[in-house]
Amino acid sequence: MGRNRLYRTVGLCLRTWYKKDMKTLNWGIIGCGRIAAKFARGLQTLKGCRLVAAASLSEGKAERFAVQFGIPRFYTDYETLVRDPDIHIVYIASLHNAHCGNTLLALNNGKHVLCEKPFALNGDQAQQMAEAARSNDLFLMEAMWTRFLPASRKLKRLIDEGGIGEVKHLRAEFGFHVPWDPDDRLHSLPLSGGSLLDLGIYPVSYARWIFGCDPESIQSTADIGRSGVDEQSSYFFSYPGGRSAHLFSSFKVRVQNEALIAGSEGYVRVPNFFHPHKFTVRGAGLTSKKYRIPYRSTGLQYQAEEAMACVRAGKNESPVMPLNESVEIMRTLDALRRQWGLVYPEERNG
Ligand SMILES: NC(=O)c1ccc[n+]([C@@H]2O[C@H](COP(=O)([O-])OP(=O)(O)OC[C@H]3O[C@@H](n4cnc5c(N)ncnc54)[C@H](OP(=O)(O)O)[C@@H]3O)[C@@H](O)[C@H]2O)c1
Repeated sequence: MGRNRLYRTVGLCLRTWYKKDMKTLNWGIIGCGRIAAKFARGLQTLKGCRLVAAASLSEGKAERFAVQFGIPRFYTDYETLVRDPDIHIVYIASLHNAHCGNTLLALNNGKHVLCEKPFALNGDQAQQMAEAARSNDLFLMEAMWTRFLPASRKLKRLIDEGGIGEVKHLRAEFGFHVPWDPDDRLHSLPLSGGSLLDLGIYPVSYARWIFGCDPESIQSTADIGRSGVDEQSSYFFSYPGGRSAHLFSSFKVRVQNEALIAGSEGYVRVPNFFHPHKFTVRGAGLTSKKYRIPYRSTGLQYQAEEAMACVRAGKNESPVMPLNESVEIMRTLDALRRQWGLVYPEERNG
């Protein structure tokens, strides 16, 4: 092959690769509620993607959502959205008890999926979702946005590099006060309400992330309210080597929503650990350093960036929020619920 022809061929290959790599990814949204609106606002700040359709089962909601965010198409059922050939990736923003069914629907129609937390109702559903992603050769990730925020990433790097020595203990809490309202999804057993799946999953997922393994043993207590859901719960996890975590969630009381990560050579204090803007590291010799790393927009776009980077790289899961971790976290939540005798209606019906 002559030199010019070789250069032309290499140039063509590079252009093709570049185009493929930079392909605009089209998003669709299932469920047009509160978190979907925040996600749509965040997504609008990203390059290389478009939000092309939204679907809602509530009358008039998808149309209003589409108008609000300048989305070209809206659907009044989820099936039509997942069959839309222009959509590459679907963000599932329905309620917990619909996550598994909606994720399977999207995967089985050839769409990549980013699914809101909690990933599913329980470990078995989460396992089924992970298997469907693998068998369809598609990307799937739990939208645990905390892990993708710039302050969280910096903090994790610092800990992994031994900035506070060996992590020995974690304390993390997430609570706010919600007035009693049987119509609120948080109080509704049929909608799998309760503090564990909505709030408790943050400290549980954080513990999995910081320690890098599942707890060896679990002790817990829960305050089950008049509608049958856990309104407040406390968990004590033990890990090999005498390490431990004390975690708490509640929608009965307001707390500081802080995490304290204690290591053999210092500690990190993270205000609002589930969406941090800053943290303080106190090292050996009690020198203290403050980090201020705010996130842009609603912050929900960082997980979308990760999902798109994985899709473009041909990966079926993210190394930051891998599928087996989402499954294990759901199994830990199952273990907690077993200690309280809390079963969701879907689970009773098999
Ligand atoms: N990452 C985060 O920071 C974050 C924050 C909040 C919530 N979340 C998660 O995101 C999911 C949605 O939460 P959200 O606060 O956005 O919920 P939401 O606004 O109350 O509802 C979201 C959607 O769920 C469906 N829905 C609501 N109430 C329903 C009911 N009574 N029966 C059947 N379907 C109902 C509706 O879907 P249609 O539009 O199709 O009708 C609604 O638009 C939850 O799993 C939650 O844990 C995540």
